[in-house]
Amino acid sequence: MSRNISAILAGTGAGLATVLGTDEAALDVAVGLLGDGAVVALPTETVYGLAADATRGEAVARIFEAKERPRFNPLIVHVSDIAMARTVARFDELALLLARSFWPGPLTLVLPLLPGTAVSPLVTAGLDTVAVRMPRGFAARVIERLGRPLAAPSANRSGKVSATSAAAVAAGLGDRIPLIIDGGPAPVGVESTILKVSGGRLALLRPGGVPVGEIEAAAGMDVDRGAVEGVIAPGMLASHYAPEAPLRLDAVRVEPGEVLLAFGPRRIEGAKDARAVVNLSESADMREAASRLFWALSELDRLGGSIAAEPVPAHGLGEAINDRLRRAAAPRDNGAVSA
Ligand code: TXA
Ligand code: MG
Repeated sequence: MSRNISAILAGTGAGLATVLGTDEAALDVAVGLLGDGAVVALPTETVYGLAADATRGEAVARIFEAKERPRFNPLIVHVSDIAMARTVARFDELALLLARSFWPGPLTLVLPLLPGTAVSPLVTAGLDTVAVRMPRGFAARVIERLGRPLAAPSANRSGKVSATSAAAVAAGLGDRIPLIIDGGPAPVGVESTILKVSGGRLALLRPGGVPVGEIEAAAGMDVDRGAVEGVIAPGMLASHYAPEAPLRLDAVRVEPGEVLLAFGPRRIEGAKDARAVVNLSESADMREAASRLFWALSELDRLGGSIAAEPVPAHGLGEAINDRLRRAAAPRDNGAVSA
C-alpha cells in the first residue's frame, strides 16, 4: 500500500489527481494519504469535501493552498461518531439531542470549542467555537479508520460553486491534489445546515440539507433565523479572533515594550530587545506559518503588550496570512466583533 501511496503522491504537481472508487483498496489509499498529511477530495452526502487531518495545522494549510482561499474561513470538523465529536466540542443536552436526531447527516453544529482539543486553531480560525458534523457514507468510513477528525470545506476553488461530483472536483482542483474519491453524484447536493447551539438557544447560520422545520420539531423550540445574513456576507469574518493587543503591520523595527510576531530567518531592528518573540516560521515556510498563525496571535496576546509584526510575503498562503493580520490590526472599537 505504501508504494501505491508514494506513486500517487509522486504524481502530484506533475499531473492530475488519481481518481478511485469507494472500495476497500481506495479506503486504504485515502487513509494512508491523510495520515501522511495530504489533502484528499472525498464524497459526502451533501457536496464533495477537500479533507485533511484536522489535528495537523500544516495539513490544514494545504487545504487553503489548494483552494486558493484568500482568507482563512473557519472549517467544519467532520467526525465519525459522537464520542469523537466530544473530543472537539462541548455538548450540552440540546446539542446532544440534535446530534442523536440528525447524525450522520447534513447538519453542522457550531458549539463551544473543547479546551485542549487536538484540533488545530487554523481550522477554527482562532475562534472559541467549532463547527462539527458527522457525514454519511465513505467520508465517515475514512474518519473512523483514520481515528482522527477531518477538516473539510467544499472541494471547489475559492469563489466557485460547491462540487457535487468527482468530475467537478477534478475540473477545479485536479491539478493540485493527489487523490479524488468518486462516490457518484452527491445525493443531497447542497451543503449542510449550520446551526449554532448556545445557551439553550438555536440560531441558523446557513440553510442547508436539513430543513429548519425538522430541527424545530426535534428540538421543540424555534430556530432564530436572524444570523443568516451576517454569516453569508463576507463581513462575518469580523467575528474572527482578534488579539486584545494592538498590532502593527509590516514593522521595520521593534519599539520599546513591544512583543514581536516574526517571520523567516532574519530579524528586524530592535528584535533582541523585544519582550517576547514568536516566529511563524524560522524557515519562511508558508504552510508552517499558516498553521501557527492563530496560535501565535493568542500566545502574544497572553504575553501582553503591543505586537509588532514583521512583513510576510504576499505569495501563496501569504495572501490569507496577510488578510488575517490586517483584520487583526484593524480598529475594532464598534460592535463589529461579535461572538
Ligand atoms: O455540507 C457541508 O457542510 C460541506 C461538506 C464538505 O461537509 N462543507 C462545507 O464547508 O460547506 P465550507 O467550508 O464550504 O463551509 C463551512 C461554513 C463556512 O461558511 C464557515 O464560515 C462556517 O461553516 N463555519 C465554520 N466554523 C464556524 C464557526 N465556528 N462559527 C460560525 N461559522 C462557522
Ligand atoms: Mg464552500
